[in-house]
Amino acid sequence: MRVVKIFDTTLRDGEQMPGISLTPFYKAQIARALDRLGVDVIEAGFPASSKGEFESVKEISSLGLNAEICGLARIVKEDIDMAIKADVDMVHIFTPTSKIQIEHTVKLSYDEIVERSVECVEYIKSHGLKCLFSAMDATRSEFDFLRRIYRAVEDAGADAINIPDTVGIATPFRFYELVKKIREEVKVTLDVHCHNDFGLAVANSYAAVLAGADEVQVTVNGIGERAGNASLEQVVMILHSIEGIKTNIKTELLYDTSKLVERLTGVRMPPNTPIVGENAFSHESGIHAHGVLKEASTFEPGILKPEMVGHRRRIVIGKHAGRYQIKKILEDAGYSVSEEALNKIFEKVKEIGDKGKKVTDRDLFTIAEIVIGEVAEEKAVEVNEVTVITGNKITPTAVVNANVFGERKIASAIGVGPVDASLKAVLQLVGGKMQIKEFRLDAITGGSDAIAEVYITLEDENGKIFTSRGASQDIVMASFDAVIKAVNFLLTRGKK
Ligand code: KIV
Ligand code: ZN
Repeated sequence: MRVVKIFDTTLRDGEQMPGISLTPFYKAQIARALDRLGVDVIEAGFPASSKGEFESVKEISSLGLNAEICGLARIVKEDIDMAIKADVDMVHIFTPTSKIQIEHTVKLSYDEIVERSVECVEYIKSHGLKCLFSAMDATRSEFDFLRRIYRAVEDAGADAINIPDTVGIATPFRFYELVKKIREEVKVTLDVHCHNDFGLAVANSYAAVLAGADEVQVTVNGIGERAGNASLEQVVMILHSIEGIKTNIKTELLYDTSKLVERLTGVRMPPNTPIVGENAFSHESGIHAHGVLKEASTFEPGILKPEMVGHRRRIVIGKHAGRYQIKKILEDAGYSVSEEALNKIFEKVKEIGDKGKKVTDRDLFTIAEIVIGEVAEEKAVEVNEVTVITGNKITPTAVVNANVFGERKIASAIGVGPVDASLKAVLQLVGGKMQIKEFRLDAITGGSDAIAEVYITLEDENGKIFTSRGASQDIVMASFDAVIKAVNFLLTRGKK
């Protein structure tokens, strides 16, 4: 079976995305996660670009990961020396090959570019390292020059050559043809690197694999310069699920890896992002959700299941919710609902949805309890006192005093802000086994006295999920309220 290699450049091209600057500690954390994920190569950075970058590449090289560690360098001896000093396994050298870039950047003749590239490959190989050669802006370069330079570096001993679509102007059909033509010219590992300026980075990478590419350069969440690079998750799942082409990626770690990169880079993915977006396997519409609850592949691809990528299917209650869907959610939570009660609950959910509000699980259960007559709510946690301290030069700290299943407990935590501190204190109070999966804050009215509405999705150690809402003029208390409701549900009804 064909296995395509995954060359990850999240820590190099991904980090070049405007607004991202990862500390060496965060870079090492991402490198470990990429290694667990199973990428073949980690491009750790551009060692000659700064002292900090050099240190960080060196640290990643010292982690003893299974993936090969690669460092970027121009076709300049000093750059290559820095990569060698950073102890990388592979040096990735690049030079522009298009007329426009040659004229405006390196100002060398075509002959000089070929000569220097060959010398650099030989220099890297003489140090016993692997060498990847990139003809930057390949998709705007003359084919004859590409052929000449790729053949020259292959003869000089390059282990792999890369075809970068540097400004993202390739289209799948044209890129397929280009990769195929180059495939006929060289025998070494053929790699591609696609940018997403027209939203075609994934499609172009896919086309390249069909044309014979052995390796694809990708980034987690598709982060990268301008509109980004090809997304690792999407390329891998297309190859895996649609084409039956293998990679060494442990696909069930895709969601968690994506979330880690989101958290550490601060770049949040829109909910409709394929594979890893929060809505990738969420269903709200009545007819769809009804079908999915009976047989998931009615309204999902089937060849792509949430568990394959470590994600989960979510049925979201909203104004499109169907009776069957509501009944199933309630029954899963331990309620037994008659047809008559279900009709009343259904009408109420529609009413709230029509007012433009999101109906949380908590709302649904409250409605159900009122309708069914089970108003008495079991409370695992009864809060006696909450103290939250924040201010200039004060570490935000929260202390919660509460009865947990009747036993008095006190927990405290610090956080990046008062909300973070109070949520952490509550989670500590209940043994630290729950985690917040989603936090959303909406201001309902304008002004500094606006009512804040907070939605919190909490997950317990068994993977049971619950979303609740808190509302107050004080965002700390709105958040606190929401998390206590969710904790209470998961510790009582969530167990059923
Ligand atoms: O986009 C590009 O051409 C690059 C090269 C360094 C491969 O990132
Ligand atoms: Zn790039």
